This record gives sequence, C-alpha cells and structure tokens, in this order.
Amino acid sequence: MSQYAGKTVVISGGAEGIGFGIARAMGKQGMNVVLGDIDARQLEISRTTLVNEGINVLTVTMDVTDLSQWENLANKAVERFGKVHMLVNNAGVGSMPGNIEHTDEKDWRWVLDVNLMGVIYGTQTMVPLMKQHGEGGWLINVASMAGMVGVPSAGAYTATKVAVVGMSESWYAELKPHNIQVSVLCPAFVKTRINLSTRNKPEALKSEREKNTKSMNNSPMAKHMQSVIDNGLSPDVVGERVVEAINNKELYIFTHPNYRKVLQKRFKNIDDAFARSESSPLLASVLDEEVALYSK
Ligand SMILES: NC(=O)c1ccc[n+]([C@@H]2O[C@H](COP(=O)([O-])OP(=O)(O)OC[C@H]3O[C@@H](n4cnc5c(N)ncnc54)[C@H](O)[C@@H]3O)[C@@H](O)[C@H]2O)c1
Repeated sequence: MSQYAGKTVVISGGAEGIGFGIARAMGKQGMNVVLGDIDARQLEISRTTLVNEGINVLTVTMDVTDLSQWENLANKAVERFGKVHMLVNNAGVGSMPGNIEHTDEKDWRWVLDVNLMGVIYGTQTMVPLMKQHGEGGWLINVASMAGMVGVPSAGAYTATKVAVVGMSESWYAELKPHNIQVSVLCPAFVKTRINLSTRNKPEALKSEREKNTKSMNNSPMAKHMQSVIDNGLSPDVVGERVVEAINNKELYIFTHPNYRKVLQKRFKNIDDAFARSESSPLLASVLDEEVALYSK
C-alpha cells in the first residue's frame, strides 16, 4: 500500500494546470485531495473529474493572498478529513512580460502577493496542523526554473520564484526535526494556462498597459511564450514526477533535465566569482574564518 493512502493533501491553485496534475497523481496514491482555487467554475469541473476517477475530493473557493481564506480552507479540510499531511503551495501567476521601466507597482504587487505571500500564508496555516498531529508530512512548494536562474523581462516573476526556492531551503532544515519533508518543484515549460494568468487578476490591480490585452497577446514575446508553453510538458507527467521525487526525498524537484547545462553555467559563473574574491588582497583576513551559516 502507498505510504500516502488515506492521508490528506491540500493543493492551492489545484483547479487546473500543474496543481491539478499533482492532485490527480496524489489521488491515484489514495490520498484525500483538498483543492483551493480562486476559480469556482473550474474547481467544480475538476472536482467532478477526480470524483469520477474514484478520488475523495473537497473543493474550496479561495484566494491565496488572503490569510483568513487559508484559515477557512484549513478548517474545512480538517472538518472533512480530520488531518492534513501534505501541502502543495502551487497557486501562482505569470508576470506581465516587461522590462524594468514597464513593470509598474500594480504588476509587482499582484505577483508578489500571489506567488510569495500565498506560499507564506499557506505554510503558516498548514504546517502547525502537521506539527500538531505529529505524524510528519510533506511541504511541496512550486517554484520554477526562474527560481534557479534570472529570466530577462520577467523580474517580478523571477523575484518570487527565487524567494520560494530560498524559503524551501530554509524550511527543509527547520522542519526536518518534525519529520516534515520539504521539496521545491522547479519546472521549465508545462502546458497550462499560465500565460493567461491575468484572467484571475482583480480589476483594481490591472495597469493601463494590461487593460489593452489584445495588443499584448499579439506581441512577439507573447506569441513566443504561447508557443513554448503549448509545446510544454504535460501536467500529468509533472504530477507523477512529483510522486517519484518525494518518494526519493528530493529537496529540488526538476522536470526538465535539458536545463541542467543552464544551471551548470550559472554555478560556474558564481564559482569563478568566488575564486576572484579569494585572490583579492582586501579579503585575506576572512579566508580562514569559520563558516557560520547552515547549508544542506
Ligand atoms: N506552466 C509552466 O510552464 C510553469 C513553469 C514553471 C512554474 N510554473 C508554476 O506552476 C504553478 C501553477 O501554474 P500553472 O502553470 O499550472 O498555471 P495555470 O494558470 O494553468 O494554473 C494556476 C491555477 O492557480 C489558480 N490561481 C491563480 N491565482 C490564484 C489565487 N490568487 N488564489 C487561488 N488560486 C489562484 C488558477 O485559478 C489556476 O487554477 C505556478 O506557481 C507557476 O508559477 C508553471
């Protein structure tokens, strides 16, 4: 029997895309699935699909940017299934493609609130429940390849995903004594509706540039993004890959091994920069100092 059978997973943004792929994969393992999502209509479609596949499902309409809605989700999950064993902080939005001058405060605020505060609120709400029952658990944060290497014209998105990778590394060490296993999923392109993220953006947060969506969707950058996403990995494969990786207790979950060379180049650049600092006469006094920061 699967180690996950009979346990409960909460997935934010689980109504479609990668979140739904993970929901289906964990449901196949026998988990009770709780989907929280801002899109009530899509949630109902997903609930019906999973129920027809024999999976126990609870759906709750919620916005990850609101802590009280996370608390409501937690209460409903516990009321229905008793305990929460796994949290997948998946809900996320793509930022408007744009350079520094063209990314205004509203663009920044929305992406930070959903992709960063959503993960923080989710973790703050669900991890205490896992600590309380003492049976251990799993925390899976969905970052991106953009969490591993900066992406031009996507500063806001990159900022949130780098933060999610960093927080996952912090929490990995912090939650280990509680037998809560932390992983961070870093996909490249997956075939979802991420490029249409503004469908869920509150009107009040829309910038003037964004209100003109027609011309934006026709821009060469938007067309290029659409085509790479259309050719992306299937969310179902990503879901199964998550199961494979958490079975192996992996902290970093990669789905696109072809990007290894991109990271190798980044690490080489960083290592070369360290080597240059080592040879600087200004820094000789710190060379032999004890390293005080924890790292895995
Ligand atoms: N698709 C890709 O190529 C790709 C690559 C790397 C990382 N990711 C990440 O994967 C995660 C899932 O994205 P996806 O590609 O499946 O996109 P998607 O747009 O298909 O799905 C996102 C889901 O999140 C929900 N959502 C959006 N805002 C919300 C909010 N405020 N509160 C609650 N739910 C909300 C949406 O309704 C939707 O169901 C995101 O964190 C994204 O950054 C995606």
